[in-house]
Amino acid sequence: MSQLFFVERGDPEAPAVVFLHGFPFNHAMWQAQVEVLSQRYRCIAPDLRGYGRSPQPPDCAAWTMDDFADDVAALMDALGIARATVCGLSMGGYVAFALWRRHRSCISRLILANTKAAGDSEQAKQNRRRHAELVRTQGMRAFADEMLPKLLAPNAHPAVAEAVRAMIESTPIETVLATLPALADRPDMSEALSAISVPTLVVVGEQDAISPLSEAQFMQARIPGARLAVIPNAGHLSPMEQPEAFNQAVLAFLSETDSGSAK
Ligand code: MLT
Repeated sequence: MSQLFFVERGDPEAPAVVFLHGFPFNHAMWQAQVEVLSQRYRCIAPDLRGYGRSPQPPDCAAWTMDDFADDVAALMDALGIARATVCGLSMGGYVAFALWRRHRSCISRLILANTKAAGDSEQAKQNRRRHAELVRTQGMRAFADEMLPKLLAPNAHPAVAEAVRAMIESTPIETVLATLPALADRPDMSEALSAISVPTLVVVGEQDAISPLSEAQFMQARIPGARLAVIPNAGHLSPMEQPEAFNQAVLAFLSETDSGSAK
């Protein structure tokens, strides 16, 4: 178990929303969501182990999605949050799935943003190994160079690209090397989607090249009652690229499902 750095904003008595960042980012990607949603909700945005300001566990060379999820469950416990809306982007969505598998009583609602249920194909696993080699030999700047064009819609604002690059380049190489196997080995959730029994919103950037619309539609079709929001002019980082549209979709979902499920 690893102690996590987190930001918290909003009324501590309000229903909680926990934001889980993607790979290889940190809590800063949720800044625009925390700012707006904290007017109505208790917003918590942790840095997963090894990311942002959260320390690396000393004894661990390779992690699993379950490790990330156990850290988040422990943080919620320490904060006295019995149930929260869990909003995860991409890898954050995989961590949300792991929370669902291992700690489902702590989830009141799910927001699955720019993520997918399927596990890695053989080709994707091979790409993870290539990324490990790239990071080991050329460092995080080279990784950012490779990833940026895939992460953002072609017309993304340069300030967003800069912020994403800064997050990637600030991530320690050891963290990336410990996470890549966790991504490659994560379980396929496709068959488990139909058992998800909390209100769920699936969000996707219209131009997401990493977790495309078809993956979002797949999840929405299988999770009972799930809603789908497609964010125009956004790629894989829709909450940063189009924060207003993203927040609007999330707020609409939260308002519609507030009664009974929130705390
Ligand atoms: C992410 O944004 O978290 C990554 O794209 C996830 C992945 O590589 O599968």
